[in-house]
Amino acid sequence: RRPLRVALLGLGTVGRRVFAELSSAPHLFHVTAILVRRGSDIDRPRAARPLIVESFDDVLASGPELVVEATGGAEPAASWMAQLMERGLHVVTANKVAVARASTRLSGVARQHGVQFLASAAVGGSVPALETVARCAASSSPAERLVGITGVLNGTSNAILESLRLGCSWEAAIDEARAAGLAEADPTSDLDGSDVACKLELLARAAGWLDAPNAKLRWIRRDSLASGVPAGITCEEGRRLRLVGAVHLTEIGSIASIVLQSVAPGHPLFELSGAANAVVLEHAESPPTVLRGIGAGAWPTATSVMGDVFAVCRRLRLVEGAIPSTQQIEPEDAR
Ligand code: NAP
Ligand code: HSE
Repeated sequence: RRPLRVALLGLGTVGRRVFAELSSAPHLFHVTAILVRRGSDIDRPRAARPLIVESFDDVLASGPELVVEATGGAEPAASWMAQLMERGLHVVTANKVAVARASTRLSGVARQHGVQFLASAAVGGSVPALETVARCAASSSPAERLVGITGVLNGTSNAILESLRLGCSWEAAIDEARAAGLAEADPTSDLDGSDVACKLELLARAAGWLDAPNAKLRWIRRDSLASGVPAGITCEEGRRLRLVGAVHLTEIGSIASIVLQSVAPGHPLFELSGAANAVVLEHAESPPTVLRGIGAGAWPTATSVMGDVFAVCRRLRLVEGAIPSTQQIEPEDAR
């Protein structure tokens, strides 16, 4: 067996951890190059330094078969990914903004060039949200047919709400979430609902609900935590505040909402500490499925990225069999 040649775009919270995972298995992976921002003076791990390049052309020249994109933002990430796939390279990304904005184009390029384009880490961190929704959508079993997806999809805002509940100040709660590597480079998107909105769009796409040309989510409500917990929102003793994203398939299309709501003990979104995420899949003809796990941070995200990397290895017949998973799937009625 030969090692898979992998290049990395980005060496931040996610990229560093993915690099550590790849480097720990030299019999499986050979890292060819790591792209960082030109002129950046951030200190890099010693083992990564010889591989660092500052131009995308140098990434191409390093001859990867697979590229892991972990930079962030719509552009240049989406254009880079399209170019890579046009050259026959497989792409794994954690970037929900780029995938939500350019999903149709990127999936089209991947199909046209016969390469893998995988983005499991873009939703839910270690929670297998996109994979499970896509599996339900592909299933012919009426029991798996989905009609709604509801969940806590942003780890940063959940961690902040939990810290506030435990008596932390707003500023300290945000600082903690940033220091833990949960927040986006600009944490506004974690708080104002735009991160959740991207994730709902990706889930609705995975469910096949946005397949029609020009199909879009129809928003009925978008609550925000950008200016703190809005005045008037209260949480009775014993209940917990959650920023809940939801998308439902209706006769008039996919209806989406982001609502700050308090949930009672026993609710599937009640027991979520720190950066936990949970996704409740509502089926037409069977009880809901609840998926849970840690939704943000280096380890859970890299776990999900590596799951996709191994999927490419399996397709190229570089490894065989199932990859051990740290993800949890639990039927609602078994909890
Ligand atoms: P991050 O810590 O800010 O790291 C981003 C890295 O990309 C940095 O090394 C940065 O360079 C580099 N970069 C950004 N723009 C670049 C450009 N134009 N050219 C070259 N390098 C560039 O972000 P992160 O938390 O690792 O997140 C990376 C991606 O994963 C994002 O799309 C994010 O939404 C997604 N994600 C993150 C998490 C999480 O928990 N952190 C979870 C799921 C998905 P510098 O170091 O020089 O700034
Ligand atoms: N900033 C995101 C969050 C990272 O807090 O959920 C995971 O997508």
